[in-house]
Amino acid sequence: MAIEKILITGAAGYLAQFIIERLHPNYELTLTDIVEPDQVADGVTFIKADVTDLSEIEAACAEHDAVIHLVALVRERHGKPLSLYAEVMVKGTWNVAEACVRQGVQKLVNISSISACPPSAGVELPYQVGDAFQFGGGDIYYSLSKHLGEEICLAYHQAHGLKIIHIRPGVIDGDGLNPGPSAPEVASGRWFVYVDPRDVAQCIERAIENETIKYGAYNAVAGREDSRYDWKQAEKDLGYSPEYNWDEIPDN
Ligand SMILES: NC(=O)c1ccc[n+]([C@@H]2O[C@H](COP(=O)([O-])OP(=O)(O)OC[C@H]3O[C@@H](n4cnc5c(N)ncnc54)[C@H](O)[C@@H]3O)[C@@H](O)[C@H]2O)c1
Repeated sequence: MAIEKILITGAAGYLAQFIIERLHPNYELTLTDIVEPDQVADGVTFIKADVTDLSEIEAACAEHDAVIHLVALVRERHGKPLSLYAEVMVKGTWNVAEACVRQGVQKLVNISSISACPPSAGVELPYQVGDAFQFGGGDIYYSLSKHLGEEICLAYHQAHGLKIIHIRPGVIDGDGLNPGPSAPEVASGRWFVYVDPRDVAQCIERAIENETIKYGAYNAVAGREDSRYDWKQAEKDLGYSPEYNWDEIPDN
């Protein structure tokens, strides 16, 4: 069945605005968050809901064909307790998957991260989904929460047939936390980890449109030869075609 009605969680956040802009012309959108977005376009509905509350997120999922799940602890996450990551990112994603199944949602597009599976030392680059990974000490609450979020979704796919596509963005340009890419003095190898939010939105739209994939995970990074993470699988399977690739920075 074609997807027409989409619920977006974390819809007051940074990335959501690009997704809303991209999808608004073609889909009926409902936004949900614990805070109200600054703007809600004509024809778009906002429902206030906390993903840590199953009944609230289940009510928001009702009558939707697909859910794009964005909620996470992102910019002000450092120093937050383990219990909050577990509550918002792990239980929150679990609640979203459960709510999708209870409400007959066809597809869940889970916005994960390249951090979900940090490449093991010595692994061949670009890092492909499924390659060896190893957690490091820095930011482990976030990385592990993203990893567990993917595992929860996989379990719901296996147990209930919920279609799942994980999108793993690289470092998203302009999110306020990072300065954005600049050419290193000595560039060597695959160092580039950034992605433009408009390209992430394109990748998400392709995941929504896709009619054959029942379960998959894809990196969404800039379309460069020196990208540290592979993007060509997303090109092949989803038709992802990154457009904003920092052409002014030499590609190794
Ligand atoms: N920003 C990046 O560089 C980057 C990179 C890779 C992946 N991602 C992922 O992309 C997604 C979106 O990131 P973003 O930069 O837009 O983050 P953001 O912080 O701007 O947005 C997250 C939203 O989640 C909402 N939220 C928090 N707790 C909630 C709860 N309990 N219930 C409902 N809503 C809640 C917040 O109010 C916020 O609007 C996240 O999953 C993030 O992990 C981001």
